[in-house]
Amino acid sequence: MDSPLVRTRDLCKIYRMGDTTVHALRGVTLDIAQGEMVAVMGPSGSGKSTFMNVIGCLDLPSSGHYELAGEAVEDLSADELAAIRNRRIGFVFQQFNLLARTSALENVELPLLYSSTPAAERRERARRRLEQVGLGDRLDHHPRQLSGGQQQRVAIARALVNDPVLILADEPTGALDSRTSLEVMALLQQLNREGMTVVLVTHEHDISAFAARIVVFRDGCAVSDEARAARDATQALAEAGTPGQPPAGVARETSADPRADDARAQR
Ligand SMILES: Nc1ncnc2c1ncn2[C@@H]1O[C@H](COP(=O)(O)OP(=O)(O)OP(=O)(O)O)[C@@H](O)[C@H]1O
Ligand SMILES: [Mg+2]
Repeated sequence: MDSPLVRTRDLCKIYRMGDTTVHALRGVTLDIAQGEMVAVMGPSGSGKSTFMNVIGCLDLPSSGHYELAGEAVEDLSADELAAIRNRRIGFVFQQFNLLARTSALENVELPLLYSSTPAAERRERARRRLEQVGLGDRLDHHPRQLSGGQQQRVAIARALVNDPVLILADEPTGALDSRTSLEVMALLQQLNREGMTVVLVTHEHDISAFAARIVVFRDGCAVSDEARAARDATQALAEAGTPGQPPAGVARETSADPRADDARAQR
């Protein structure tokens, strides 16, 4: 059998700040196979982001073992870690983290600047990824000229441009309204169905329902790990109806005539 894409054994992370010691991860042992879509949940401070930072090679564990695609990570130098991160992992954050004075196309090209990819190829790859996330007609827009959901889609295109093996999304819908959240989840599900491994952190049960596996953290430990049937985000989007229209099967509760609403309220 192939080794899992993510394999952690007794992962610990200790932060020391002056006299305080924080045990952010206390022995996390977890396998994530290629092609999985996993939601990580748990209360604030339980270690979710720390876990994402370690498996994303942004940070090294204090102790324990981590293999990404069969490669042990904990003994690598900072440069080697950065190389693995740039080559293999795509990050999506709650606040999008786009460069404000830069077009969508240039934002998506950014990760390729650290490689030796020629300029014309960079541009072409970024353009293809923006088309893939449905923003082929927004290449020259700057972030402030895009909606929140569109900005997050630019961030997802940027995460994909290096052809990563793993997408890590820390609260990707945390700054979005519920409909836009569904759109972003439909996109992540579509990428997952095409084979991408996706790990996302969320506080919302509605969002975790779109993952087929839920891992819950508490006090730096993974305290539960369950597989179940995932909800289809594209279908949820259809059931939510088009913006400004009532959802399918739901009668309009307010009428265009405010006096009619007053009359109803008095009944
Ligand atoms: N860079 C750091 N330096 C010191 N302590 C840190 C650092 N990062 C996180 N911590 C501490 O580690 C613990 C776990 O933090 P973490 O950010 O992983 O939690 P989280 O589950 O992502 O929480 P939230 O849901 O609020 O994002 C917390 O107690 C936090 O204060
Ligand atoms: Mg966090």
